[in-house]
Amino acid sequence: MNILVTGAAGYVGSVCAAELVKQGNHVVTYDNLSAGHRQAVASGARLVVGDIADTEKLKRVCKRYSIEAVMHFAASALVEESVRNPHLFYSNNVRGTIALLEVMASLKIQRLIFSSSAAVYGEPKIVPIPEDHPTNPVNPYGETKLVIERALTWYHNAYGIQSAALRYFNAAGATAEFGEDHRPETHLLPRLFAAASGSKGAFQIYGDDYPTPDGTCVRDYVHVLDIAQAHILALHSLSKLGSRIYNVGHGKGYSIRAVLKAVEEVTGRKLEVQVSGRRPGDPAVLVATARKLRRELKWQPRNSDLKNIIRSAWAWMQKYPKGYRK
Ligand code: UFG
Repeated sequence: MNILVTGAAGYVGSVCAAELVKQGNHVVTYDNLSAGHRQAVASGARLVVGDIADTEKLKRVCKRYSIEAVMHFAASALVEESVRNPHLFYSNNVRGTIALLEVMASLKIQRLIFSSSAAVYGEPKIVPIPEDHPTNPVNPYGETKLVIERALTWYHNAYGIQSAALRYFNAAGATAEFGEDHRPETHLLPRLFAAASGSKGAFQIYGDDYPTPDGTCVRDYVHVLDIAQAHILALHSLSKLGSRIYNVGHGKGYSIRAVLKAVEEVTGRKLEVQVSGRRPGDPAVLVATARKLRRELKWQPRNSDLKNIIRSAWAWMQKYPKGYRK
């Protein structure tokens, strides 16, 4: 299949594009490289540097490569930044995605896998969280993802675009080639590794006064390869789907202190730790039930055991201590 992967130079996009190439698809990656890395684009995938808001360019690319399906990863994704700078998120995540949908509708490209987020739920009332849980985002990032999820129903009715919105919980882990390299890096595992390597001083826990067993936030860490598998399964089931929503999580919650302990065990290093204030926009607990994804698409999170996630990410970091920097 000829597949356009937006944001394929980013973390989850790069792993997914590489898996699509492995399965024999023709992959055109489309990324403005504002946050992604040229080196993260899978060999065998074509890179076009462009912005999703540039509808003329996007149209030319889709026509030229006879695109049949789109996986849409390109987005601004840091929760805290979204609280400080909502405009960036409305612009990239809402305006940008609507531009992409406009191109898809005009060219009759009718298959889309959309990267959504657990951030659409806000503070959950039921844990683990099912897909029909009320959505009440507590940050602009989650809000912008929800706006698009809702639009997808209407775009299906009006233009026949079939879609799956995948609500990722906490993407983590690495493959042998591709890993996590955000700048600035705000995510838990890379920060823990930086502390384990002694490169960034003490590790900061953002708040230990949450209503959780040890007071630190609880998250559901899911391996990036398992997320990629969810995309591929969803793509192959689209004709049956209309517009669907799936949680992508392992279904197990770990507190920051529990992850920290596991990192110490895997790396064999003792971390220096400080507790600082809460980070704006962080819900206390986000844990999925991914029963729907398992049942309907036969998804199996084969790589998402916490220690396995940590080992894979640590191995990648040992291999690429400067990330994608040369
Ligand atoms: N944390 C720390 N110290 C750090 C870094 C993170 O205590 O140095 C904490 C955060 O406060 C949070 C947890 O570790 O409680 C996980 O933080 P991440 O930044 O790794 O991930 P988030 O939970 O904030 O966000 C991620 C994705 C979002 C997605 C969300 C859904 O980045 O896109 O998961 O669960 F919406």
